[in-house]
Amino acid sequence: MKSIYFDNAATTKVDDKVVKEMLPYFNENYGNASSQHDVGIRAKEALEKSRKIIAKSIKAETNEIIFTSGGTESNNLALKGLFFANYPKKDSIITTKIEHDSILQTCKWLESQGVKITYLNVDREGFVNLEELKKSITEKTFLVSIIHGNNEIGTLQDIEKIGKVCKEKNVLFHTDACQSFTKVQIDVKKQNLDLVTLNSHKIHGPKGVGALYMKEGIKIIPLIHGGGHEKKLRSGTENVAGIAGFAKAIEIANDKDVKKMIILRDKLINGLLEIEKVSLNGSREKRLCNNVNVSFNNIEGEAIGGYLENEKIYTSTGSACMSHSLETSHVLKALGLTPLQSNSSLRISISKYTTEEEVNYFLNKIKLIVNKLRRFSPLTK
Ligand SMILES: Cc1ncc(COP(=O)(O)O)c(C=O)c1O
Repeated sequence: MKSIYFDNAATTKVDDKVVKEMLPYFNENYGNASSQHDVGIRAKEALEKSRKIIAKSIKAETNEIIFTSGGTESNNLALKGLFFANYPKKDSIITTKIEHDSILQTCKWLESQGVKITYLNVDREGFVNLEELKKSITEKTFLVSIIHGNNEIGTLQDIEKIGKVCKEKNVLFHTDACQSFTKVQIDVKKQNLDLVTLNSHKIHGPKGVGALYMKEGIKIIPLIHGGGHEKKLRSGTENVAGIAGFAKAIEIANDKDVKKMIILRDKLINGLLEIEKVSLNGSREKRLCNNVNVSFNNIEGEAIGGYLENEKIYTSTGSACMSHSLETSHVLKALGLTPLQSNSSLRISISKYTTEEEVNYFLNKIKLIVNKLRRFSPLTK
């Protein structure tokens, strides 16, 4: 076995078809989409074709898509853009304790500016409570922002029900769909979504490209001022090659790959749960097709990850942004795990390229590693 990449929640391999789609925009159709001549017009056409594909994939209108540099920027634009447009008339945001850092750190900054942030609790599987959400919304709330598919534990929130509550209460609803995009159908109208964060590098597209869906009529203040690109909401020459690659990645995503991942994910979960004292984090049923997150009780996840790396098997002990720090995961903490349980966790995230052979190989290896570590762990004595 060459190597096994099981860290697809951090990022994915760019599909060859995506690379092929992008190449001409570097050395043939390299124009600036704002230029009026033929070269620029060709770039503009590629941009608008991509916008159409992205809009269609979430059942939005083409003019409701703003291109950004990725999920982090889209999340910042949604939250800060609405803050600048609404504060101080409205001064409150509701979010959850299990958001990605690009939401949580933005909220932290907004708090320093006077915004009141409510961090909703989640249950043992990572679900928000709709009654708690309803009770938290006041006439001063300008936004509810709740992650769709969680990047650490894979839990998929019922965004349609959350969207319904937000609509009834007349408050805007944003969801960060970076992990769920193309894996679960997003339908902005049916699910009452006002703003949606999307990115490309989790779906076999290039890094540094993303989009914010924003329902027609919503007012935000831009964060980046300049030449007035993207309807004056996000200035800066558009990354045409990246955007064309993003659109291609969406076009080639399909249900067959999702079904294949579900089968391999479940094989991984079942195999891991056969090991003594292993527990699954997140929901068994409402879970991203590519996410497995387990705790090994009394063995450091870092140690398991290290042994796996020696075997050229790449996993993660938390979100990519967290894994360089020794802090325990805020997501696992919100589920109610103790620091010890949290530190014994491992995230295995697969992709359409994952094979059954890789899954079997991994399960054999991890059983040996866990046995070995348990023999040496003073905590198991
Ligand atoms: C749920 C979620 N939101 C936002 C981001 C940030 O996206 P990007 O890396 O495109 O800035 C990520 C990626 O790590 C993510 O998993």
